[in-house]
Amino acid sequence: RTVYVNGAYVPENEARVSVFDRGFLFADGIYEVAAVIGGKLIDFPAHLNRLHRSADELGLRVDASNEELLAIHRELISRNGISEGVVYMQMTRGVADRDFAYDTDSMEPTLVLFTQSRPLLETSTSKNGMSIVSVEDIRWGRCDIKTVQLLYPSMAKMEARSRGADDAWLVRDGMVTEGSSSNAFIVTGNGIIVTRPLSNAILPGITRSALMSYAAATGTRIAERTFSIEEAKDAAEAFVTSASVFVGPVISIDGVELSGGKPGPVTMGLRKTYITESL
Ligand code: PDD
Repeated sequence: RTVYVNGAYVPENEARVSVFDRGFLFADGIYEVAAVIGGKLIDFPAHLNRLHRSADELGLRVDASNEELLAIHRELISRNGISEGVVYMQMTRGVADRDFAYDTDSMEPTLVLFTQSRPLLETSTSKNGMSIVSVEDIRWGRCDIKTVQLLYPSMAKMEARSRGADDAWLVRDGMVTEGSSSNAFIVTGNGIIVTRPLSNAILPGITRSALMSYAAATGTRIAERTFSIEEAKDAAEAFVTSASVFVGPVISIDGVELSGGKPGPVTMGLRKTYITESL
């Protein structure tokens, strides 16, 4: 694999970042993950917008232009022959001797990109659905910023695995915030799609927003409101959205089966709509 590091395309085993990088020492960095289907990036402008928003919120300098960032994505897709998979882009504040305080202006941001080739359209999750367990959401107060501070989501996913489930939904005050690396949705008995409104408590998902506009255009009713984990267990269907899963059916929550333990029809319809519309 060829990866991109600070202006250079290098073989992955030759790629280097300083041990003093603030991304490494302080998780002082942001990232984006964009899907590739048929060699083409999905929803790329929206990912760039969110990168800039994350950078602004953290006072992080983005030196590369949008055109350069797009060109790097395309170059990696081409060099690595990615037909289906993702491009990961990470930007950190850069390298400085270890100190909590920083001077962004005197640092060179670190920019790293790599690709992962993997099936996205036909996966066991999309066919069979996934089981979810709920865990307490103990993340910090700015979950709307896409930072590389991903320890708790990793721990939540490991907790799910150890309980025999595929993934975790995070719950605060009894209400579902989002998935460990996805936005969470339920479908009510009368076919209304429910998802938590945007706030500092969740990531403004690119897939969430695209799906909601496609769904609205096809007449699906959507309610942006908080919902409890108890309501979710009682829902007709549930699903998650993310750049790498698209629309992923949920078939059980804390051991309670949904939609007969199979991906639900509304969910699969939305998955189809999302894929058709975003390609
Ligand atoms: N994760 N919420 C969280 C906490 C996430 O980490 C993600 C994405 C999402 C969905 O956002 P989007 O639709 O823009 O991908 C919601 C990515 C895929 C990851 O960390 O790999």
